[in-house]
Amino acid sequence: MPIDFNSATKLITLTTDTTTYQMKVDPYGYLIHLYYGARTSGDMSYLVTYADRSGMCGCPYDVHDRTYSLDVLPQEFPFQGSGDMRSPLLVVRDAEGAFGCDLRYVGHTISNGMFSLPGLPAVYSEEDDEAQSLSVQLRDERLGLEVELLYGVLPHFDVITRALIVTNAGNASVTVERLQSACLDFVHGDLDVMTFNGRHAMERRPDRHRIGHGSFSVGSRRGMSSNQYSPFMIVCDHAATEFNGRAWAMNYVYSGGFEAEVERDQYNQVRVQMGLSDDRFSYPLNPGERLVAPEVIMAYSHEGIGRISNIMHRCIRKRVCRGYWRDRRRPVLVNSWEAMHFNFNGDSLLDLAKTAADLGIELFVMDDGWFAERDNDICSLGDWRVNEKKLGRSLAELADQINDLGLKFGIWVEPEMISEDSDLYRAHPDWVLALPGKAPTLGRDQLVLDLSRADVRDNLFEQLCGILDQAHIEYVKWDYNRCITDAYSRTTTDQGKVLYDYMIGVYDLLERLIKRYPKVLFEGCSAGGGRYDAGMMYYTPQIWTSDNTDADNRLTIQYGSSFGFPLSVMGAHVSACPNEINNRTVPLTTRGHVAMAGGSFGYELDLNELPGRAFDHIRRQISLYHEIENIVCEGELYRLSSPMDDDVCAWENVLEDGSEAIMTAVVLKVEGYAQANYVTLRGLTPGANYRELTTGVVYPANALMDMGMPLPVNTEMYASYLYRFERVEG
Ligand code: DGJ
Repeated sequence: MPIDFNSATKLITLTTDTTTYQMKVDPYGYLIHLYYGARTSGDMSYLVTYADRSGMCGCPYDVHDRTYSLDVLPQEFPFQGSGDMRSPLLVVRDAEGAFGCDLRYVGHTISNGMFSLPGLPAVYSEEDDEAQSLSVQLRDERLGLEVELLYGVLPHFDVITRALIVTNAGNASVTVERLQSACLDFVHGDLDVMTFNGRHAMERRPDRHRIGHGSFSVGSRRGMSSNQYSPFMIVCDHAATEFNGRAWAMNYVYSGGFEAEVERDQYNQVRVQMGLSDDRFSYPLNPGERLVAPEVIMAYSHEGIGRISNIMHRCIRKRVCRGYWRDRRRPVLVNSWEAMHFNFNGDSLLDLAKTAADLGIELFVMDDGWFAERDNDICSLGDWRVNEKKLGRSLAELADQINDLGLKFGIWVEPEMISEDSDLYRAHPDWVLALPGKAPTLGRDQLVLDLSRADVRDNLFEQLCGILDQAHIEYVKWDYNRCITDAYSRTTTDQGKVLYDYMIGVYDLLERLIKRYPKVLFEGCSAGGGRYDAGMMYYTPQIWTSDNTDADNRLTIQYGSSFGFPLSVMGAHVSACPNEINNRTVPLTTRGHVAMAGGSFGYELDLNELPGRAFDHIRRQISLYHEIENIVCEGELYRLSSPMDDDVCAWENVLEDGSEAIMTAVVLKVEGYAQANYVTLRGLTPGANYRELTTGVVYPANALMDMGMPLPVNTEMYASYLYRFERVEG
């Protein structure tokens, strides 16, 4: 069984196909973390060593053992107040304002299936027998505080997930001041940490460095997971590479502010943790109330960082993404934004749609600018009524005309926002997040609606249903274009709850809409990739990766995004050159190859501006994409080289059974009379032969995976090559 409790040794062991995770309830009721690594059996208590620690704190009052210090021991759930002076997962204050608690084990239960979290996204199981859940109950007697540690084990996905629920079972209020969801304590190791950093239009660039003394954290205080830092972190051996060495990862299933921290302590032990941001967080619980800490997905690999990515891809693609679109091919789309911005009318949209249909595009997306008086970005958010004057027809008529061309029809919305210049704001100025007496900070000239309020969510639900019910709409792009600065809600006196309750409100609204429109494809977006996280992926199985569509920059953005998130989610479009953000020109072939690295492929340019000969090229691009999209979405990804460090950026996708593969390479450096660049492949069936489908040449897999494959010599900057391999018998 994936979860085992040994009542004699008090060991709790969690097992997946290739990993083992172990903790122990010690004689004093504390949970000691023992192991997370390669699959094994036995008692890993031997890893914890004891020596005289009496010169420091951390010895509970009832222990009387000078070698026992929670300030040194590896812990499963470190909390403030135990004498562990490292960074805790939980900090609480009692009704008097005093800090500290003492949580001890009282029991546990094991059940079949994955646990679920009320109101929050979480990894799920399809069949009860494919997963097991563990609930460990801890209790603080003084406060009557109960903590339920939740663990979900999906053995064949090789993931273990963690979340927890804090319940005030006492008689007085308590306040949660810090709440992290998962922790890994390493008793030793020369470890690196990888985080994914960026900004608007340059998201998720990998950053790696050695974990030194003290603590290092990244996070978001923006009320959103953010363009700046991703809620995904890898810790690995200093020597680990894509294909070798040990690596561990945490992926937060939450879209609000977060913190991911590593800390090397006085004994060179390393603590890794992830959870809610402390920023503007102070969550009171009255007797009987509870607070749920969002889930973290954990993975371990002893075969390098690449395997971590493939574990995350599979888990998110199959057990976070849900519903009708989870396993379906995503329609190739054309989006009006970079083609027209706000400057369109119904006829110009139809002109674009006609050309799109002729080229084989399957979905037409009308982006921002179709509602109320929205001809620029300073008005009308909140007024979700169709601007029929601008469209020259009703929404139903426009959708029908687009459907008649053979295209699906979709729209853009940004429901969480409101413009000051809107009827909704004029009617309900109190519905925004804003501090009384302080002028709110603007972002893109807009304010954030208070989605912690049920009445605000109800209004949005009604308005959005009003739109979705009036036309044949099969796709919705859900945008979110600023962060939360003034986190003040008029409906509570506990402002430290607002950022968390806001996120719960967003999830509630999305859940209601998805239930009502189960076949509509929702695509997430947040000024590009500002909420590119596993939480949103539970509701939106595709997400616009970045507002930067330049193929060169996209190599880095998509490379970084691929460490934690599946390619099936990755929205990637071919856009016009010179690129509107950085003025770069890249060949159309390369733009196509780079966009095909994502499983949500499309176009974002005025197709009618292209020279006629580009049309055949695009037709071929789309038909190539259809031939490879299952390998992109379902295959294993191998990052063969890096766009940040190497002369060629190459990646490979291989079907799990090794029968088909594609390898794409983009040249990023050109020198005179240079030698060919060689790309070494991975993941093919050893000993087999593979036919490259364009040339028909048959290559031995062992040679491709040893000396590699030469790219054409005398190539040009940004030249790109896509090779398709099929295993041949005999
Ligand atoms: C930001 C998005 O990332 C863009 O794709 C586009 O939808 C604009 N918002 C529209 O305002």
